[in-house]
Amino acid sequence: MQGHTIKPSSKQLSSMVVVAAAIMLVLLAGVAHGGRRRLVSSSEDEPCKKMTVYYHDILYTGNNTANATSAAVTKPAAALSTSHWANGTFFGLLVVFDDLVTEEQALSSEPVARAQGFYFYDKKEEYNAWLAFSLVFNSTAYTGTLNLMGADLMYEKTRDISVVGGTGDFFMSRGIATLSLNAAEGTVYFRLKMDIKLYECYV
Ligand SMILES: *[C@@H]1O[C@H](CO)[C@@H](O)[C@H](O)[C@H]1NC(C)=O
Ligand SMILES: *[C@@H]1O[C@H](CO)[C@@H](O)[C@H](O)[C@H]1NC(C)=O
Ligand SMILES: *[C@@H]1O[C@H](CO)[C@@H](O)[C@H](O)[C@H]1NC(C)=O
Ligand SMILES: *[C@@H]1O[C@H](CO)[C@@H](O)[C@H](O)[C@H]1NC(C)=O
Repeated sequence: MQGHTIKPSSKQLSSMVVVAAAIMLVLLAGVAHGGRRRLVSSSEDEPCKKMTVYYHDILYTGNNTANATSAAVTKPAAALSTSHWANGTFFGLLVVFDDLVTEEQALSSEPVARAQGFYFYDKKEEYNAWLAFSLVFNSTAYTGTLNLMGADLMYEKTRDISVVGGTGDFFMSRGIATLSLNAAEGTVYFRLKMDIKLYECYV
């Protein structure tokens, strides 16, 4: 074999510069935010943080003013929401909520956050929704927010929505929340189990 020095190509050099710049950015971010460092999971099985919480939605029905935490703010066109199914799919209904979020299943258990945002029903043929909200944490364990959004494919037993960002203790966090219906009382109340896994954290 002939001995010769290996010189990096200009392409390799430019990618080295990008890596160096990325490392600089990470270090700068660490300095700017109380020394926190960005942690990115290297595998789907190893989130950098995970938690399970329960979301309680109590819809305003006309006589539960003190208890309700969510309200329909649009009246869907009956012709559209019943066009495929006589029972109606709520197509076009938008609900705004300020819902209790707990660590245990029970509605009366210790709150960990509020879920503040909205969902709307977006399918004529069956129940289907789209969600966008913040989990606002103000407990001894956490302060800050996690921002979640995505299609809530209600016909699926579990469905994933995106955790698109965060603030405070969840500075710049990203991940996935897996939702499943955990309990329901007619059209007044439902509870969702939310398994939240973050794959990008600052620690
Ligand atoms: C509220 O209204 C629902 C349905 O209209 C009724 O079943 C329920 O008993 C009412 N509750 C109270 C506390 O009046
Ligand atoms: C839908 O309505 C039909 C009658 O129109 C009824 O038999 C059926 O149980 C309803 N389905 C649901 C899920 O409520
Ligand atoms: C957070 O909790 C503290 C202590 O319970 C309270 O004083 C404060 O008003 C709360 N902040 C918000 C935004 O709810
Ligand atoms: C509030 O609503 C939930 C869900 O419908 C119900 O289980 C609970 O008993 C209600 N609490 C009060 C105080 O009315």
